[in-house]
Amino acid sequence: MDPFEPWVEALFERHLRRLTFQEIRKGLAAVSRVYVARRDRLGERVLDGAGKRAAFAVFYGPLHFLVAREVVRGLCATGPPPTRIVELGAGTGAAGAAWALEAGASLEGIERSGWAVEEARANLLALGVRGKVTPGDLLRARLPGAGAGILLAYTVNELDEAARSMLRPRLFEAARSGARVLVIEPIATRLLPWWPDWAAAFEAAGGRADEWRFRPTLPERLRTMDRGAGLDHRELTARSLYLG
Ligand SMILES: C[S@@+](CC[C@H](N)C(=O)[O-])C[C@H]1O[C@@H](n2cnc3c(N)ncnc32)[C@H](O)[C@@H]1O
Repeated sequence: MDPFEPWVEALFERHLRRLTFQEIRKGLAAVSRVYVARRDRLGERVLDGAGKRAAFAVFYGPLHFLVAREVVRGLCATGPPPTRIVELGAGTGAAGAAWALEAGASLEGIERSGWAVEEARANLLALGVRGKVTPGDLLRARLPGAGAGILLAYTVNELDEAARSMLRPRLFEAARSGARVLVIEPIATRLLPWWPDWAAAFEAAGGRADEWRFRPTLPERLRTMDRGAGLDHRELTARSLYLG
């Protein structure tokens, strides 16, 4: 059975014990303004208030799960399935959990926000994913090789130029040792000036760059929250870089 809808229901139930629907809806509107205005350093400003944190957990977590699952399926990133997924900047673990579930793999996430690490614990339990998200700096993480999938979902854009330059050769080195590397970001050229350069490097190394567009069936709770915050996520879009 697909654990997605029961998970979303459990997420809302858990967060509605502490905040009202209106508070989370307001938080979502605030988070979305940050998303639209400027995506770099997003995590710092998204996670700085209870309403915004709850909105990120109940709304963007599930959307990132759906996007990651669609991308992983579209790329056939489970053939043959990796046995472990390492998610760098894992947030609440949603995107990594999607790949782990598709592959039957475990998840090891690294995340600098203590709040997100706690949230991820509840998510992995609810989704039935083995593994955990641990606190730490992704730039200091030891990257795995063969048999692993390395995921950066909506995270590379949060790094500054120096961090991005340090990270990319390490990702390519991990790919040469047999890991698959997947980067997911939104489609918004203006806000991601580094993308063309990264896409060219991935393609030159034998990888691919893709854009995705799909219309998921969102659970009622997400649809209501989406409309209530003045948003429209009937269509989800993303772009990815993949080297495997
Ligand atoms: C936009 S969120 C995306 C989270 C998750 N990957 C998802 O798809 O839902 C980006 C995350 O990266 C984390 N992050 C940014 N820089 C980091 C670093 N240097 N080390 C660890 N985590 C980092 C932020 O705290 C934030 O939770």
